Amino acid sequence: MRNTAMKPVRSLESKLNLPANVHIFANSQDVAGAVSNRIFSQIKRKPASVLGLATGETPRPIYAAMRAAYHRQDASFSHVTTFNLDEYAGLSNDHPDSFAAYMRRELFAHTDFQAERINLLKGDAENLHMEAGAYENAIKAAGGIDLQLLGIGLNGHIGFNEPGSTADSRTRTVRLSEATLTANLPSMTALSAVPSQAITMGIASILEAKEILIIAIGSRKARACLRALQGQQDLSCPASLLATHANVTWLLDEDASEFLDR
Ligand code: PGA
Repeated sequence: MRNTAMKPVRSLESKLNLPANVHIFANSQDVAGAVSNRIFSQIKRKPASVLGLATGETPRPIYAAMRAAYHRQDASFSHVTTFNLDEYAGLSNDHPDSFAAYMRRELFAHTDFQAERINLLKGDAENLHMEAGAYENAIKAAGGIDLQLLGIGLNGHIGFNEPGSTADSRTRTVRLSEATLTANLPSMTALSAVPSQAITMGIASILEAKEILIIAIGSRKARACLRALQGQQDLSCPASLLATHANVTWLLDEDASEFLDR
């Protein structure tokens, strides 16, 4: 599915020269292998690393590789602290469609991550504003995020920072765009509609991570990648704001790199 509302600024006839921090892999498995290897080397070097984690379709093979490495006893996550990017407003961490439940299913329940070092936004917190502030404080108290994983939305969002989010945005409640509501509906198992609001780390919170890996799989992400990488920082494509960070690596499969000149 392609978001027709999103017009690339650049003509698609002339491809964008490949920026040095963009790596293209044959398929999603190879992307997942590269990302999980980076995570394993980070944890070997610093067992008490702080990881920023994402949900959605994109990270599934990465979490599968992490589960497999744990079962082979090649990796242990027992000292790692995690912070997830976002959560649907109104959903408790027990709700099957919450990102907390996704994380348990995909990663936490099958590995040795310790509950006291897992940080998840509470979508059903009584006061989401206070929840957001407490999350920012917890990230600071943990020493900041060492390695942040990100996907990219069809509309260029990162976390749930939708188009129009500003570079100084912090963890907060947001209204989800129509594009995101449509894109996320198929992943709902117990709900017939996607919650219209969410709580998300802000762009400034994400940009404070020491290192960022952003992953895009499939041709439906190619346009968002082109817009994010073409050089202008454009609030209508939040991922373009990553250009201000000194240590961002993009990992794309061939389909997502359709508009990049290899
Ligand atoms: P996806 O979502 O991995 O399910 O495509 C990515 C995102 O919207 O950030």
